[in-house]
Amino acid sequence: MNKVIAIANQKGGVGKTTTAVNLAASLAATKRKVLLIDLDPQGNASTAAGIKNKESFSLYHHYFEEKDINQCIYQSNDSYGVIPGGEELIALEVAIRNNNNQGCLSKSLQTLNGLFDYILIDTPPTLNQLTIEGLFCASGTLIPLQCEYYSLEGVTGLMHTIKTLSDKNMTSNRVIGIVRTMVDMRNNLAKEVSNELEKHFSTLIFNTLIPRNVKLAEAPSHGVSGIKYMPSSYGAKAYLALAGELIRRVESV
Ligand SMILES: Nc1ncnc2c1ncn2[C@@H]1O[C@H](COP(=O)(O)OP(=O)(O)O)[C@@H](O)[C@H]1O
Ligand SMILES: [Mg+2]
Repeated sequence: MNKVIAIANQKGGVGKTTTAVNLAASLAATKRKVLLIDLDPQGNASTAAGIKNKESFSLYHHYFEEKDINQCIYQSNDSYGVIPGGEELIALEVAIRNNNNQGCLSKSLQTLNGLFDYILIDTPPTLNQLTIEGLFCASGTLIPLQCEYYSLEGVTGLMHTIKTLSDKNMTSNRVIGIVRTMVDMRNNLAKEVSNELEKHFSTLIFNTLIPRNVKLAEAPSHGVSGIKYMPSSYGAKAYLALAGELIRRVESV
């Protein structure tokens, strides 16, 4: 089994990176072999995983300097592997576009076949070539969403892109599910939006709600997931529950 899951939403600050890092840690806690790929030039997932960007090889070095992809995998503080991201991915984005080399990441990942149970891909907050590369590789996409008035803007575009790619037989990627993040049920609007999402996306929405929890926001500065930083926190428990739900969803098919 080899599940490649892109975590995407063109909107910034919706909890993509937090979800990527904490899901990776939660899946690793179940003894599954996990690789997290940071496709964001901001490199937040790499920092949160405890990887010092300056010293490491990324997909830039794999692409431009022909480094073996295995040489770009680092060990996080949470027992999962990481291919770090950073500013140099901006040049990679341009090169893939200019050289018409779409799907190059997908080819590289084939050489890792069988080494990991799950490969999670954290994507940037735009639908650029890096995100498309992620969508190309993925067998499924997970969409983190904040329960706000404009939360669906952009998501329909993303879902349409995923559907178009698979209709054209370019990928087998499908939306695995929508995760509600940073939920604060004391907020009436959040409650309303959350209920609407349940109605409209009844089959896609995950039951697990990720609460707004300061431990999840503090953990990255210690280079660990919320799961390791404060296992008893509501945030950590929610991500462990989400991992359970994800496993049931993708491993039962
Ligand atoms: N459940 C949460 N509770 C509290 N803070 C959160 C939570 N999820 C994310 N954050 C914080 O919100 C900000 C944006 O989250 P992030 O995961 O980086 O979003 P994205 O990757 O979509 O831009 C970060 O500062 C992060 O620490
Ligand atoms: Mg991010």
